Amino acid sequence: MSAQQVNTVHAAVIMDGNGRWAQARGLPRTFGHREGAKTVRRAVEAAPNLGIDTLTLYAFSSDNWVRPKPEISALMRLFHRHLRSETAELVDMGVRLSLVGRRDRLPRKVQDAAASAEEATAGGTRLHLRLAIDYSARDLLVRAADELASNGLRPPFGRDSFAEALGRAMGEDEPARDVDVLIRTSGEQRLSDFLLWECAYAEFVFTDRLWPDFDAEDFAACMREFRGRDRRYGACPSSVAAG
Ligand code: IPE
Ligand code: IPE
Ligand code: MG
Repeated sequence: MSAQQVNTVHAAVIMDGNGRWAQARGLPRTFGHREGAKTVRRAVEAAPNLGIDTLTLYAFSSDNWVRPKPEISALMRLFHRHLRSETAELVDMGVRLSLVGRRDRLPRKVQDAAASAEEATAGGTRLHLRLAIDYSARDLLVRAADELASNGLRPPFGRDSFAEALGRAMGEDEPARDVDVLIRTSGEQRLSDFLLWECAYAEFVFTDRLWPDFDAEDFAACMREFRGRDRRYGACPSSVAAG
């Protein structure tokens, strides 16, 4: 992709398989999460060269709170450490970071590190990196509906006002944006409560690669597959002649 090309793709990634990666090596699951954090860095570096302007990464679902406490603590420590240590680099790379998901249940340290990183990177224009932590698409949809109702608005709301409310529910100034390509690693083929509204017309690309092994070439291969798809949005295939 040429440097002049304007990036327009919203890619979302379900970063799955950290636990299995570690278990396959006889290591505790947390080692997989640590290795997975390195993959995040590689993916962020690669994204702008793959035509992506917005990258939403699923890091921790609201259902992940049921996991063993030591695993959750290790993940929270990793979020804290990386939010702090990567901020300067994100600024250098022109990356704007924001968290989507609930903040109030995160450890105070993670909330503060996230707020600092968001503030420091606010001027980034090359890539918008959205980290989904304590994220549940269904909870956000309900919150958006609650907000519209509690503002005294009466149905019917319309898609645009609903997308705006959903954006606000995520703490963003912009309406919820459609996902162009949804990638999930580790061979699982489900959404696990990720971006339900935004994926209405997303292209799904599944790869067996476990997240810690997912490299820039794998990412490029997923994007090639996406670009080869015929996105129809309900219309006839582009190969069909009019009439
Ligand atoms: C994804 O990897 C990371 C999180 C959900 C936090 P997993 O931890 O789900 O790894 P597997 O699916 O058990 O291999
Ligand atoms: C979804 O993965 C959440 C993240 C990748 C952060 P899970 O591994 O938690 O999803 P399920 O339980 O297999 O659906
Ligand atoms: Mg998993």
